[in-house]
Amino acid sequence: MIATITTPRLMAVGGGALAELPGMLQRLGLARPLIVTDPYIRGCGILERATALLDGTHIRWEVFADTVPDPTTAVVEVGARLLAEGGFDGLVAIGGGSSIDTAKAMSVLAANGGQMRDYKVPAEIPKGGPPLVAIPTTAGTGSEVTRFTVITDTATDEKMLIAGLACCPLAAIVDYELTLTMPLRLTADTGLDSLTHAIEAYVSRRASPYTDGLAKNAMGLIARHIRTACAEPNNRAAREAMMLGATTAGMAFSNASVALVHGMSRPIGAFFHVPHGLSNAMLLPEITAFSAPAALDRYADCARSMGIAEEGEGSQGTVARLLDELRQLNQDLKVPTPHEWGIDAGRYEELLPVMASQALASGSPANNPRVPTADEIITLYRRVYG
Ligand SMILES: [Fe+2]
Repeated sequence: MIATITTPRLMAVGGGALAELPGMLQRLGLARPLIVTDPYIRGCGILERATALLDGTHIRWEVFADTVPDPTTAVVEVGARLLAEGGFDGLVAIGGGSSIDTAKAMSVLAANGGQMRDYKVPAEIPKGGPPLVAIPTTAGTGSEVTRFTVITDTATDEKMLIAGLACCPLAAIVDYELTLTMPLRLTADTGLDSLTHAIEAYVSRRASPYTDGLAKNAMGLIARHIRTACAEPNNRAAREAMMLGATTAGMAFSNASVALVHGMSRPIGAFFHVPHGLSNAMLLPEITAFSAPAALDRYADCARSMGIAEEGEGSQGTVARLLDELRQLNQDLKVPTPHEWGIDAGRYEELLPVMASQALASGSPANNPRVPTADEIITLYRRVYG
């Protein structure tokens, strides 16, 4: 099997790497970037730190700070118009996955026109747009290194997956110091998202030896540090490990794809506005239990990489430990069930057929070791409801 690998062309990784921004833009020949961010990053001082680095250089920047959580086609359309009409030669996204995903979609739309839904998987994106430098401020989505963006269609509430080389940032700045101020819930949710990326990339039918190494490395970092990062927000070693784990997991799943957890998670997020990492975490233990019989050895490897296996124990027992750990992690990090999160049982039940069909249409379940039918997906949704 030949694996085709996509990654950014240039990356600066480490504490304080934000300072590399002006030099990086110069190396890439970008002199007029549009900075894409959200109101929180604009208000908390991080945007100012970035723009202060650019002032005094020849780089002339402007800011679009209207990105929203679960980015929508409405916001992307406004941003794309600004990008197309403002004479910009590139984008700098500063923020969580939402800002980075918004910038990617703006670039695609500015270059190709039409509607965002025209580029939904499995559609191809004809042309690459203005290049993106991605600067994550959360340790989670890995969007700074992936060839994916997820945009919610305002008309249908569907979370659309858009994929292609055109969505991969040209460069990334991965600076864990930007995550030191993340609140507990965001640290937990984004960390659980990246753990899900690593596990799904490893068990994916599209995994390769190249992505396996990245995924195992990421699982080890995240599983060993997620509780500390949540309990001690200023623990720099834990923050650094979580950031590295998130980016490495991003590189793994960008090239191996995610699987059933993500496929089922997007509709929960779209219809009930559950944060992405949280809806993944609600699903992860039960979906792992459903999938594991089809790839016992691969799931046992996950437990080994996470440091929770016993020496000499067989795959069956090791996978049982993995399931215990995933359930315990949800308990320790206070992940609610959909029911506990306040999702109405009647509305949930009513939407299950459309959620199952959107999950399957995203293509992600087809990468799962055990590929479910629509009815099995509905049963799994009922199982996790709580
Ligand atoms: Fe994710």
